[in-house]
Amino acid sequence: MEAENFVSTREALTRSDGELVRLRGWVYRKRELANNIFIVLRDSEGIIQCVVNRESAPKELVEEAERATIESSIEAEGSVATDARAPGGKEVRLSSLRVVGLSENFPIKGGESLDYLLDIRHLWLRSRKLTQIMRVRATVLDALRRYFIDNGWWEVSPPILTQSAVEGGSTLFPVDFFGRKAYLSQSAQFYLEVMIFSLERVWSLTPSFRAERSRTRRHLYEYWHLEAEAAWMDMHDMMRVVEDMVKATIKEVLDKRLEELEFLKRKLDPLEETLRSKFKEVTYDEAIERLQKKGFNIKWGDDIGADEERALTEDLNVPFFLTMFPKHLKSFYMKAYDQDPRLVLGFDLEAPEGYGEIVGGSQREDRYDVLYNRIVEEKLNPADYQWYLDLRRYGSVPHSGFGLGVDRLVMWITGIEHIRDAIPFPRLRERIYP
Ligand code: 4AD
Ligand code: MG
Repeated sequence: MEAENFVSTREALTRSDGELVRLRGWVYRKRELANNIFIVLRDSEGIIQCVVNRESAPKELVEEAERATIESSIEAEGSVATDARAPGGKEVRLSSLRVVGLSENFPIKGGESLDYLLDIRHLWLRSRKLTQIMRVRATVLDALRRYFIDNGWWEVSPPILTQSAVEGGSTLFPVDFFGRKAYLSQSAQFYLEVMIFSLERVWSLTPSFRAERSRTRRHLYEYWHLEAEAAWMDMHDMMRVVEDMVKATIKEVLDKRLEELEFLKRKLDPLEETLRSKFKEVTYDEAIERLQKKGFNIKWGDDIGADEERALTEDLNVPFFLTMFPKHLKSFYMKAYDQDPRLVLGFDLEAPEGYGEIVGGSQREDRYDVLYNRIVEEKLNPADYQWYLDLRRYGSVPHSGFGLGVDRLVMWITGIEHIRDAIPFPRLRERIYP
């Protein structure tokens, strides 16, 4: 009997004893015991143990199995057999094996330093841990896109080379644009605001760039930014969108990537509880009080930074919205709160378990004069924002929007320690290779 075409390791583990399967992948582990050569084959779906018996196998097969080094790519064929000791409870007894690409001595063997592993990120990405995270990440991206498409939002394509700051000059990356200065985008927000005047509800998924001074476990210099903007929505309407979107994403990951979460030893209760709960709103004032009770030396008007966010979220299982910030802490475009002009209609979504901010959003200032004065008050040049101000001259509309740090969402959902592992090729200050 001929085996059918190649099947994945996952598929092979579902087959009955005696069925012939063809596999292809890489040598993940290899061990020689008495009469058997064990090769654990790895593919994008998982691993499966393959065995070559020195006594019963033809000479060429034994030689090829001996030749196959760790991380060599191989094609193999054999019959499925139940074996309780094998990962997944089954193994494949090989009748043929072909080395496709022989691997030199693979530089990762276990126990290497972080610095070393980062230098060979292009090889480290084959690790099972990073593979599981990348699978979850792909599902997160899929769920986010699907959320907007299914709910009737228009995807738009903003530029990355830009002229002015959205989120303040201190984190801008300058680039030389034919002798003039340009910047890498920090946020697509202003472009999305333009687009709502024709499409009403828009979103984009782009890289954003931040020349962050501090190196932390939740900052990247280049990250993936999902942004949305809608006409006719106030701050609370937009908070409901954020809540729905985050829940839809978690639901999809729990439906499709449970094995990956289990591999990563992710506690599931917080994710499950998040699906069942309504996200609460905590105002900035309330947060300051909570922090003071926790012993922080903080007063009204101070920024709520990473340490404070950790303290506010570490005992929680469910995200909450932090809202109503003092205006001097936030960007000039946030709409003033008329009942208390010290405040703006901004909101952040704080992920639980110590993760902190994953979304930043607000209602936007839609009044020309108020916005103009804020720009001047922030010592920015109104001429740089002329087109942005124009939107308030020609049929201004109440509107709101937000930006989600995709990598931070992946970091929280997978429960990992550092954001660099939520993205395949983190840009590091020391090196941008690979
Ligand atoms: O809070 P931020 O700076 O808000 C904006 O950029 C708005 N203009 C977005 C909008 O309303 N359209 O950034 C939004 C989110 C943050 O909540 C965070 O999750 C993520 O982007 N983020 C980063 N993620 C990784 N590394 C960094 N250096 C990040 N800076 C922001
Ligand atoms: Mg923010």
